[in-house]
Amino acid sequence: MKITDFKRMMAEGIPHEMPALKSYDQNLNHAPKRKDILNSVEKRLAIKNALRYFPERFHPLLAKEFAYELATYGRIYMYRFRPDYVIKARHIDDFPYRTRSAAAIMLMISNNLDITVAQHPHELITYGGNGAVFQNWAQYRLTMKYLSEMTEEQTLVIYSGHPLGLFPSTKDAPRLVVTNGMVIPNYSSQDHWEKFNALGVSQYSQMTAGSYMYIGPQGIVHGTTITLLNAARMTGKSDNGLKCKLFVSSGLGGMSGAQPKAASIAGIISVIAEVNQKALKTRHSQGWVDEVFSDLNSLVKRVRKATAEKKAISIAYEGNVVDVWEKFADENIYVDLGSDQTSLHNPWSGGYYPAGLSFEESNRMITENPEKFKDAVRKSLRRQVEAINRHTARGTYFFDYGNAFLLEASRAGGDILKPDGEFKYPSYVQDIMGPVCFDFGFGPFRWVCCSNEPSDLEVTDKIAIDVLRKLIKKSPDQIKQQMNDNIHWIKDAGKNRLVVGSQARILYADAEGRIEIASAFNNAISEDKISAPVVIGRDHHDVSGTDSPYRETSNIYDGSKFTADMAVQNVIGDSFRGATWVSLHNGGGVGWGEVINGGFGMVLDGTPDTETKLRRMLHWDVNNGIARRSWARNKAAMFTLKREMERTPDLNVTIPYIADDEIIDEALKGV
Ligand SMILES: NC(=O)c1ccc[n+]([C@@H]2O[C@H](COP(=O)([O-])OP(=O)(O)OC[C@H]3O[C@@H](n4cnc5c(N)ncnc54)[C@H](O)[C@@H]3O)[C@@H](O)[C@H]2O)c1
Repeated sequence: MKITDFKRMMAEGIPHEMPALKSYDQNLNHAPKRKDILNSVEKRLAIKNALRYFPERFHPLLAKEFAYELATYGRIYMYRFRPDYVIKARHIDDFPYRTRSAAAIMLMISNNLDITVAQHPHELITYGGNGAVFQNWAQYRLTMKYLSEMTEEQTLVIYSGHPLGLFPSTKDAPRLVVTNGMVIPNYSSQDHWEKFNALGVSQYSQMTAGSYMYIGPQGIVHGTTITLLNAARMTGKSDNGLKCKLFVSSGLGGMSGAQPKAASIAGIISVIAEVNQKALKTRHSQGWVDEVFSDLNSLVKRVRKATAEKKAISIAYEGNVVDVWEKFADENIYVDLGSDQTSLHNPWSGGYYPAGLSFEESNRMITENPEKFKDAVRKSLRRQVEAINRHTARGTYFFDYGNAFLLEASRAGGDILKPDGEFKYPSYVQDIMGPVCFDFGFGPFRWVCCSNEPSDLEVTDKIAIDVLRKLIKKSPDQIKQQMNDNIHWIKDAGKNRLVVGSQARILYADAEGRIEIASAFNNAISEDKISAPVVIGRDHHDVSGTDSPYRETSNIYDGSKFTADMAVQNVIGDSFRGATWVSLHNGGGVGWGEVINGGFGMVLDGTPDTETKLRRMLHWDVNNGIARRSWARNKAAMFTLKREMERTPDLNVTIPYIADDEIIDEALKGV
């Protein structure tokens, strides 16, 4: 396709002529049929809502088609309007635009919908089963049209995928403001989402799906690497925690599949059990797992050899993780680190496969005898906990990976609670991400090269290494480890070939690191060392971006973990300090109604104006969360904030006085 034709089609919006009906591509992964939740009056409303995007002459045909889609898929995707061109990240100048910022946003949206990147591309879902970019193809088309027409003095407003329109604003305002799933708090149950989404008035966008900041599996590999490195350090200080430890876990699926790759990058031996042969084969063929075993005795032999040789290797066990935990306990195999990444947030419909049943038997039982299946899951969880407890009694460090393992194991009656009712084991954020990373300001900074050229990514990698190496020389001891880990990561990032889709990179950095890296990129763009603009952004799973009481803010202990002021303030603050786009969401990995999260995108174009904006915005984007974490009396955050206030004269934040518990005990006596 000629580039001029592509540009014309991108800018077309809703076509004047009815496009041909599209066939349902069986080769692609499609979203499951959604719950039939609307009553007959609401179904009429859903169709009427969908027809709003089209001229009346299209209505007789489309009304029937949309009624069919609603009945068949539980949603109206408007498949007919999916464009014919290939949707993927391209050079920024290949997109039609009046302002380059808008073209950068088009690039990011296109990457999120690329069929090699997105989970259910034709249903506009990027990841997580429900992480939507748009609700339907009309919204996609209109958004692209608006972006192609936008000037430097307009802002596009998007409500849950629906482009409300272009509004006059200023050059310094964001070009785009996105909200996803923002509902009145009392209407935030799972069924509310099902209903509002079926009506076409709201959507669930996970974190980086509806903020156009997804960069494929690289983000999760990096996060898992950092988690494992820090977990390993908690298991023995003499060798800095990193002498080829053994890690046991489960799952080679969407996110869990990053475990063996990340363990190898961290220099750790991993054994990951997976019951689904298809998932296991995918990860093996990608080279993310080195060896596969289906016999427990051979597995034990191989693990003994690897630990004796101290050679990091990733091993998949084709079978149930419960069997691995039990066998290793019986055989006295010392496991340094343990976790679980079955999809226990969804225990009854295939998220967790019970021991003693084959994969196929389980799948049959889920539909034929769901109550018997639930019993099998509970029994298996009790067995799993018992085996894990045998390991932890010998010194294994076990942590929950945000998959509701501890919660479901306790509900199943597993021996997982302490006498005070708390879980015996920590979650990865409580023990690792929170105190080791977020409280010091370290979080998932990322960037995308808008030339779409690997050579530009290589230049940015080198710049990032140079900046971090320079900064570490004057870093306080408390953050040297984090700096080193990320220098190590970025040094090998190209070699690890983690790019899928756009030319993107991620690393963890604190406020200073993010600012200095972004500034160095901006300079390099102005000097033509990088051939096109660079978009910077981050995962919402960050210092300030997410309020989520059982994940990102689970290490907030002043009772405020159920508030969402931080995430909302963050987006507002980013928007007037220079972000090119901002985005605020209800719902992320832990579910609709369980989390508020937000993020930003900023286009670095090499200008002095951008230099001012990036310094202003990134400083707030990290220090907002540091200030909140400090107010919650988190020690590392108090340290980081004090250091920041010394560096930044205009920063003046309220610091908590720490009350002595004895005084409070005394005061409460006899009250
Ligand atoms: N990796 C992270 O950073 C992270 C962060 C937060 C939450 N999580 C959570 O981790 C969980 C996994 O996510 P995912 O995207 O990989 O899900 P997924 O469903 O794609 O993968 C889970 C895998 O576990 C396998 N499995 C289930 N029961 C098993 C058993 N008993 N033994 C062995 N294998 C079994 C399944 O076959 C499946 O392939 C989710 O609950 C997710 O919310 C992960």
